[in-house]
Amino acid sequence: MGKKPENRLNDLSGREWLYWTDTLYITAYPVDATHPLRKQHGAMKPPEVMAEIVRFFTKKGEMVLDPFAGVGGTLLGAELEERQALGFEINPRWVEIYATICRNFAICEGQIRPLKEIAGQAYRRISAPMYQGDCLKLLKELPPASVDAIITDPPYGCDHGATGFADETNFNMQGQVPDPWADLGNAPDLAAFLTGMASVGRELHRVLKPGRYLVMMVGDRYRQGEYLPLGYILANCMREVGFKLKGVKIWSNKATRRRLKPYAVYSVFVPNITHQNILILRKE
Ligand SMILES: C[S@@+](CC[C@H](N)C(=O)[O-])C[C@H]1O[C@@H](n2cnc3c(N)ncnc32)[C@H](O)[C@@H]1O
Repeated sequence: MGKKPENRLNDLSGREWLYWTDTLYITAYPVDATHPLRKQHGAMKPPEVMAEIVRFFTKKGEMVLDPFAGVGGTLLGAELEERQALGFEINPRWVEIYATICRNFAICEGQIRPLKEIAGQAYRRISAPMYQGDCLKLLKELPPASVDAIITDPPYGCDHGATGFADETNFNMQGQVPDPWADLGNAPDLAAFLTGMASVGRELHRVLKPGRYLVMMVGDRYRQGEYLPLGYILANCMREVGFKLKGVKIWSNKATRRRLKPYAVYSVFVPNITHQNILILRKE
């Protein structure tokens, strides 16, 4: 029998590794204890799903970065897996919700649970920092090749104002020049969004260690009577700044899937988009 090869990426067994390479990824996580707080965001991801992604793309103790951290799905996933993590988020409201979670919840027996319910049991506090600000500026403060994985869920900036944050007050608070388009969820059109994402992508490529992965969760869209393959478009955008696209997993969380809506029944085909693309990109 030959010697078992060294696992250079994660702490999984060969069997677990193989299972994760399936391009279809159906999960069934119900809402967790932090959901009532996190759901105010509307585009948050289940920490358990993020934990599975973290587990594949890092080893215990390594550093995970989320430049579009929202209310902390990736940071909480990294905490569940005992990784270090760092997040950037432009909207102070989401940073505050994450801070509330850090104050009132902890990891106990592999779950995020309210501190008040786990008195007397062993637990770990949630301490991964989330800094408020424009990730494009904050990324410039990180040294090159300093993070082991970037796992993120970018805003989908096609003039829908999803984060509702074209508000100047936040920028004044920081003493910065107001820049309503810094929130990429408010980009005026797809071209402006992609220009912003390319700038962020170049910084992500700089701060990631060679041989490691950028993982992006991206939902496709249906707009103005046409399917917009945003996953494919963003994958290409990241290829243009130097990443190699290594694969896509099609993810759907059965437990929180919304009901199908009867779009244009008996008339034309309009999809109910119930999946997200998990883009797996590598710095080679
Ligand atoms: C799809 S959400 C991420 C949700 C997150 N995965 C979670 O579980 O909560 C994208 C986030 O990117 C933030 N964002 C948009 N532009 C940004 C920027 N330039 N710098 C940092 N965050 C930004 C938005 O405010 C939004 O919260």
